[in-house]
Amino acid sequence: MNRIMVTGGAGFIGSGYVRYVLDAYPDLHVVNFDKLTYAGNRDNVKDVDPERHTFVRGDVADADAVYDAMTGCDAVVNFAAETHVDRSIMGASEFIDTDVRGVHNIVEAARRHGTERVLLVSTDEVYGSIAEGAFRETDPVAPRNPYSASKAGGELMGMAFYHTFGVPVIITRGSNTYGPYQYPEKVMPLFITNAIDDEPLPLYGDGRNVRDWLYVDDHCRGIDCALRHGAPGEVYNIAGGNERENIALTKQILELTGKGDDLIKPVKDRPGHDRRYALNADKLKALGWAPQVGWEEGVAHTVQWYKDNEWWWRPIKSGEFRAYYERQYGNR
Ligand code: NAD
Ligand code: DAU
Repeated sequence: MNRIMVTGGAGFIGSGYVRYVLDAYPDLHVVNFDKLTYAGNRDNVKDVDPERHTFVRGDVADADAVYDAMTGCDAVVNFAAETHVDRSIMGASEFIDTDVRGVHNIVEAARRHGTERVLLVSTDEVYGSIAEGAFRETDPVAPRNPYSASKAGGELMGMAFYHTFGVPVIITRGSNTYGPYQYPEKVMPLFITNAIDDEPLPLYGDGRNVRDWLYVDDHCRGIDCALRHGAPGEVYNIAGGNERENIALTKQILELTGKGDDLIKPVKDRPGHDRRYALNADKLKALGWAPQVGWEEGVAHTVQWYKDNEWWWRPIKSGEFRAYYERQYGNR
C-alpha cells in the first residue's frame, strides 16, 4: 500500500492513526479527508510530514467528494463519525448522515474504484451491554443508544457491500479509547481537565458502569494489523483488557491531578446507559497484535499530557463547548 485515504483523520484516534502510519511506513502517502466538525482539529496533525500528507476538507455524506478523494488510493480507513453518545441522545440526525450514509458513500466509492481494502472502524457498543464474560465477533449486534445504532447501521451496510459486490470490507470493534488529543467531552479528558481547573466531575448514576480501556496507540496498531493481515468480510475486536468502574477511574484521575474526592459530583444517569462493555480480542491477537501500553502507564501519561498541553484543550473548552456543557450538565 502506497497511498491510503483516512477519513476522520483530524479527530482523536484518526489523527493518532495518521501519525502512526506515516512513522511506520516511510513510503506511504495519506489523504486525510475530514469535515472538521467540532471534534476535528488540524492541530492534531500539525507535526506530520506535509510531503506525505494531503488534507482534504470534505464530508463523507457527500458521495462525489468521497469518490474524488479516493482516486488513486489503495485502501481507505474510515474513522469519520459522530462519536459522542450524549450528543446522540440530544439528536441523532447527524449520526445517521455520517455514520450510516457516510459509510455507504465510502463503500460505494470503493466498489467503483476497485479499492484493495476498506477498513471500517467501529465500536464495542454495537454489541450492547454484557453482565458477565466478554463479547466475541460471532455474537449478534444489539445496540442500545442512537450512536451505537448508527455505527451498527454503517457496519451492516459495509458487510452488505462485501457480500453483494465483493468490496473487501474489514470491520474493527474497539473498546473505550483514551490518550492525548481526545476531545474533552469524553469522560477521561473531561474529568482530567475539570480536575485541573477545580471544577466538579459529573459522575453519572451510581458510578459503577464498567468500560474496558484501550490506549490510543494500541488501538491504532490494532486497526493497522487488521487492515494488513485481516481477511475481507471479517470483524475483529480490539480491547485493552483494562476493565474499570467509572468511580475507580474518577478517583485515579483525582489522585494523579492531586485533587480530592470532594470534586466528585454524582448526577442523573445517562438514559439507556450501558452497564458494562467487555470484548474478547483473541481473533486479532492471533494475527500478531497485542496491547503494549499498560493501564498505569497509559493513564499517568494521559494525565501528564493534559497538564502539559493546555494550549490544545483550553481554546476547545472555551468555544462551542461551553454551550454544549451548559445544555448537557446545567440542570443535571
Ligand atoms: P472524534 O469525534 O474525536 O473524531 C471524529 C472525526 O471525524 C473528526 O475529525 C471529525 O471532524 C470527523 N468527521 C465527523 N463527521 C464527518 C463527516 N461527515 N465527514 C468527514 N469527517 C467527519 O472520534 P474518535 O473518538 O477519534 O473516533 C474515531 C472512530 O473510532 C469513530 O468511528 C468511532 O466510532 C470509533 N471508536 C471510537 C472509540 C473511542 O473510545 N473514542 C472507541 C471505539 C471506536
Ligand atoms: O466503547 C467505545 C465507545 O466509547 C466509543 O464508541 C465512543 O465513540 C466513545 O465516546 C465511548 O463511549 P462511552 O459512552 O463509553 O464514553 P464516554 O466517555 O462518554 O463515557 C464513558 C463512561 O463514563 C460511561 O459509562 C458514561 C460515564 N460518564 C461520561 C461522561 C461524559 C460520566 O459518568 N460522566 C460524564 O460526564
